[in-house]
Amino acid sequence: MDDQSVVNGTPAHMKVMAYRKYGSPDVLQVEYLPIPVPEDNEVLIRIQASTVNRTDCGFLRGKPWIVRFFSGLFAPKAPVLGCEFTGEIVGVGTKAAGFSIGERVFAFKDDDYGFGGHAEFTVMPVAGMIAKVPDNVGIEQAASALEGAHYALHYIRAAGITDQHSVLINGATGAIGSAALQLIKDIGARVTAVCATEHVEVIRALGADKVVDYKRDDFTKLTETFDVVFDAVGKSTSGQCRSVLREGGTYMSTELGPYCQNPLLAIVSKLRGNRSDLFPLPQNLNEDAVLLRDKMQSGAYLPLVDKIYQLDEVADAFRYVETGMKLGNVVISIGDQPG
Ligand SMILES: NC(=O)c1ccc[n+]([C@@H]2O[C@H](COP(=O)([O-])OP(=O)(O)OC[C@H]3O[C@@H](n4cnc5c(N)ncnc54)[C@H](OP(=O)(O)O)[C@@H]3O)[C@@H](O)[C@H]2O)c1
Repeated sequence: MDDQSVVNGTPAHMKVMAYRKYGSPDVLQVEYLPIPVPEDNEVLIRIQASTVNRTDCGFLRGKPWIVRFFSGLFAPKAPVLGCEFTGEIVGVGTKAAGFSIGERVFAFKDDDYGFGGHAEFTVMPVAGMIAKVPDNVGIEQAASALEGAHYALHYIRAAGITDQHSVLINGATGAIGSAALQLIKDIGARVTAVCATEHVEVIRALGADKVVDYKRDDFTKLTETFDVVFDAVGKSTSGQCRSVLREGGTYMSTELGPYCQNPLLAIVSKLRGNRSDLFPLPQNLNEDAVLLRDKMQSGAYLPLVDKIYQLDEVADAFRYVETGMKLGNVVISIGDQPG
């Protein structure tokens, strides 16, 4: 491989934003770590952009506590957050088939591989969620293409949504919701999307058949009923949504619920042999990165980008994402940074 990791026989270093203890965005700090060396089955990527998403926020604070079974019980196992990113391949392991130096890729790397997107370089196994960036997609959109969309894909599949279904999405403005809206419209289902007044036009432009402004109307009081209610921001409960679900309909939420009831309701639902409540657990599949690349190439799916921050401003990006009011995705631009 063209080795960026070693200069004159010594490991080269890269700038990262790291955290060594759980806490607020104030615990994030600039560090210089050795550029990782790719294993045989990995590529080395010079990162151009990453995101700060709700998964990063959970890992930063170590909350809810269940997160710590993955992130480290008392302190973070992996110091660099950023689970999705785009960049240029600058090194290829001996068995990393299918990728070449100079190619632009986008990827999602989960906690098993220690995230690592808030850095100038990272390594990525080629069997993971990685694909080449289509020519029609910008760096910022490619960087934010996978986290929200891979959750959306798994919820869509779990519910078995088809072109015959009518779906309500609450929180269609989030990373998961905005991806779900586009992917469900691509299937051909009818979508009613819920958002705030100021985002009605954005959501309509993403393809919603009908938009409910939650500042004026409570979607749980609609007279219309749906085959699927997907709460992509976890603000409702299954009980509140029963009246807008058709008989045999399905409720799904991206949050555990105020009493952590959503996974339990899904288990009860499964034991009863119906699909009234689902709580799907996503998988990180290479073929889904390829599928989402194809959807971006065809124009069926384009990630919604809100604010763009520089690597040094990652803490501010976290503060914004933690408000729970971002519009789609928040991107970190990673190029030549001062200092
Ligand atoms: N299950 C998991 O493993 C998992 C993983 C990642 C994320 N999550 C959860 O999934 C949820 C969505 O995450 P995300 O990154 O897609 O987006 P997000 O940052 O949580 O959502 C932002 C959007 O939510 C909308 N919103 C806020 N309050 C609302 C309300 N009361 N009703 C309807 N919409 C509201 C806002 O749009 P408006 O201004 O238009 O309201 C905002 O644009 C989060 O709760 C997150 O914790 C779960």
